[in-house]
Amino acid sequence: MEIHKVGVIGCGLMGAGIAQTCVQAGYTTIVREVDQSFLDKGTARIYDAWQTMERKGKITAEQVESYRAQLQGTVTLTDLADCDLVIEAILENIEEKLRLFPVLDRMLAPSALILSNTSSLSVTQMGAVTKRPEKICGLHFFNPAPVMKLVEIVKTISTAEETIETIKQFALSLGKTPVLAKDTAGFIVNFLLIPYLLAAIRMLENGIASRDDIDTAMKLGCGYPMGPFTLLDYVGLDTTLWAAEAIYEEYKDPLYTPPPLLRRMVTSGLYGRKSGRGFYDYQKDK
Ligand code: 3HC
Repeated sequence: MEIHKVGVIGCGLMGAGIAQTCVQAGYTTIVREVDQSFLDKGTARIYDAWQTMERKGKITAEQVESYRAQLQGTVTLTDLADCDLVIEAILENIEEKLRLFPVLDRMLAPSALILSNTSSLSVTQMGAVTKRPEKICGLHFFNPAPVMKLVEIVKTISTAEETIETIKQFALSLGKTPVLAKDTAGFIVNFLLIPYLLAAIRMLENGIASRDDIDTAMKLGCGYPMGPFTLLDYVGLDTTLWAAEAIYEEYKDPLYTPPPLLRRMVTSGLYGRKSGRGFYDYQKDK
């Protein structure tokens, strides 16, 4: 199957990064947000990234112009009707996703593939509310999506081999390395990463070490690019909480129980970088 036009639903941190990645790989891309202010914020993030790349001499001014021409933003879902492939990157809320998938199913050509960037919700459930479950799978990107080399392709019981093969080729065309995982909560990366991040929060709650020392220890002791608190702020505390809850829901393993501090920070709107404050204060740093 030939993919020419890609639709991305959601232009938050992940949706914007995914749309940017698709444009840079040469796909005509249309990204949809629920309202103009969210759309403006998301596309501004993409334009800023291209400006930085131009400033660093990685791309030319002409390339920036052509990228901008290849990217369309919209608040109207039906504008995505002629896409060959749609990647859903909305909030990690299963009810919202289960409302969206049947609408996409009715609107898109029968040959179109629908992918979810969910980090831990059931792709099987999303496929089950459509009439094309064989054309549905997960394609999970990592933050920052334009930079991180990995994507997880998530296969449900119903996903056709042909769909997986097309998505593998699509992932390679984006410059990514795909790995294949079954549709179980957390797939590969979050199944392993979430308990590590939650353990760091518990360590802080228990006063075993300070935020800065835990971050330094894991950076220098393990050679990780970021310590756990920097990474939590980077990924988003809300996203981490949703992922932990979804994996806990599936396995009931106490390893995935969200620590009280995480819940309280999310309740207080301390989401990390995107809200200006999480474990670190980015407004103060500015
Ligand atoms: N578009 C294009 N390029 C970008 C970019 C963007 N949006 N964001 C960053 N970059 C580029 C920078 O320009 C820079 O390029 P250069 O090396 O050529 O100058 C390069 O990426 C590295 O960025 P920085 O110099 O700003 O900073 P670092 O060298 O510290 O790297 C990092 C930043 C890549 C984020 C690195 O710290 C890292 O790998 N951190 C770990 C991230 C991680 O683990 N992500 C996965 C989280 S889990 C997840 O997402 C799953 C979810 O479901 C929870």
